[in-house]
Amino acid sequence: MVPNLGPNKGVADLVPPRFPTTSPGLVAMCSYCGCRNIPMIAKLNAEHEAIVNSSYALEIAFRDQDLEAARLACKELRDLLHPHTHREQVGLFAEMEKDELFTEHVASLCAEHDELDADLDAIAAGDLPRIQTMITLLNNHIDREENGLFPAALAYLDDTQWDIIHRPELMNGPEDGHTHSHPH
Ligand SMILES: [Fe+2]
Ligand SMILES: [Fe+2]
Repeated sequence: MVPNLGPNKGVADLVPPRFPTTSPGLVAMCSYCGCRNIPMIAKLNAEHEAIVNSSYALEIAFRDQDLEAARLACKELRDLLHPHTHREQVGLFAEMEKDELFTEHVASLCAEHDELDADLDAIAAGDLPRIQTMITLLNNHIDREENGLFPAALAYLDDTQWDIIHRPELMNGPEDGHTHSHPH
């Protein structure tokens, strides 16, 4: 039976606030801290949404045990993932890892980027059971960023570092996973 909580109680009152589960320095929560108002964080979060949406095609390929569909889904996911992880690693991560409080945490996130790549290679080569492992890792990885590193960045980075993170080639750069240092 659903308890009567009175006129001022809603579902939100029943949901406990989320607490960080990662490194000791990661103290803030994305839903509350306002980091989504920062252009790069907003961009990375929007990319996460597209990546998660794209991963559903892989789940369907697994359900249907359809290798060709899985290969296509891997390619689409990889095309979204690569410019995104590049943007993270050369921007926000590069600034955060300068603080030794976050060096290890950033290294583990970078290792997960490599692991996701290896998973996609293996799936495209025919290892369909790995789809579920990959999707679990992907969702956990995004959670560690959105509810761990990104809010911590808001608390720890200074204006100069944010300017570096917001440099045009990272905010507006090519979507193919690399940036050019030379003009065309
Ligand atoms: Fe990442
Ligand atoms: Fe990410």
